[in-house]
Amino acid sequence: MTDADRELLERADAAAANAYAPYSEFHVGAAVRTRDGRIFEGVNVENAAYPLGICGEKTALAAAASAGVRPGEIEALAVNASPCGGCRQWFHEFGIDRVIYRQPDGGVAVTTPAELLPDTFEL
Ligand code: THU
Repeated sequence: MTDADRELLERADAAAANAYAPYSEFHVGAAVRTRDGRIFEGVNVENAAYPLGICGEKTALAAAASAGVRPGEIEALAVNASPCGGCRQWFHEFGIDRVIYRQPDGGVAVTTPAELLPDTFEL
């Protein structure tokens, strides 16, 4: 793992403090780094109507997209949890080079969207 990836994971860890997760109490923080060095953070945001909640990875990617970032412009995404299946499809969509995440056993994985979700859906 590069120093920059380690710093990105630290940003994700710190962002988790802002998670809005009163129902699960599972606090997720994510951070995205673009090729030109911009960083966008996200957290999971839950809702009393449970399925309406959104994952931390998606809010980080939505923040980046809202600033004009497009697929192919993101170098890395870090998150303090193992990404769900839906988030893996989002990683594929944005063509992220590397995904860094904290594994349930306490380890850190550095991987790619293709490894996380082979044979992805294409429209
Ligand atoms: N969650 C994420 O934010 N990212 C994932 O990849 C997995 C799950 C959130 C959703 C929900 O707020 C909480 O974790 C428990 O499922």
